[in-house]
Amino acid sequence: MRPRHPHRGDRGGHHPRERTPEPAPTAAVPQSGDPALTLLHRIATADPTDLDDYRAHGGYTALRRAFDIGPAAVIREVTDAGLVGRGGAAFPTGRKWQATASQPDHPHYLVCNADESEPGTFKDRVLMEGDPFALVEAMTIAAYATGAHHGYLYLRGEYPRATAHMEHAITQARSRGLLGDDILGQGYAFDLEIRRGAGAYICGEETALFNSIEGYRGEPRTKPPSPWRRACSASRP
Ligand SMILES: Cc1cc2nc3c(=O)[nH]c(=O)nc-3n(C[C@H](O)[C@H](O)[C@H](O)COP(=O)(O)O)c2cc1C
Repeated sequence: MRPRHPHRGDRGGHHPRERTPEPAPTAAVPQSGDPALTLLHRIATADPTDLDDYRAHGGYTALRRAFDIGPAAVIREVTDAGLVGRGGAAFPTGRKWQATASQPDHPHYLVCNADESEPGTFKDRVLMEGDPFALVEAMTIAAYATGAHHGYLYLRGEYPRATAHMEHAITQARSRGLLGDDILGQGYAFDLEIRRGAGAYICGEETALFNSIEGYRGEPRTKPPSPWRRACSASRP
């Protein structure tokens, strides 16, 4: 009898999906290059693998400005700008940062939720694939404002290209003094690591995500305490 799937298990053959090249990250932003774009303005105009190109397109001017004005003023600017979270709840970012910065318990951690498992959602993917240094810089600014010296990027496991681009960007930033013990010679220390999700949708919920980072089962925690008050810790909450 003929096998129903002649290529499966055949070392010489390939699954048809493996032969289909992934579309370029820019394909997700048909309006790329439009001067009206703000968040996406570097997609397709800057090389996502080249730190110098990122800087030539305005990269790291925001972090320099953050160091110039100090953490409190950064939080004030973010609050005044009316920035809200994109995780679904539209929580005011400035309020979250202020609450974290004023927590007397240390260390503070910065956690970036890039689990992005919502069907049909791909904004995080576009940014990580097309402008990964921007996320490294943004996390550094958020860490500086909130007094964190260590960050986690919780990245959806099914995003191999985003993972590769982020790993590359982090390594580049580290090698050029944009992550590490003395960022831009300002005496501020911050570094970040990637933690890959294993495909569980629930791990995008922020407290389940913390459990996952800590190596526990990815289940939501009871609140309070709020996530900004008690997130990742050496011991179970
Ligand atoms: C089941 C579930 C899945 C979620 N998945 C994600 C996700 O993939 N990415 C995300 O940013 N937020 C997700 N959230 C929301 C997070 O709990 C949290 O509100 C968000 O990370 C806060 O981000 P913000 O500061 O951008 O608002 C999820 C929430 C639930 C209940």
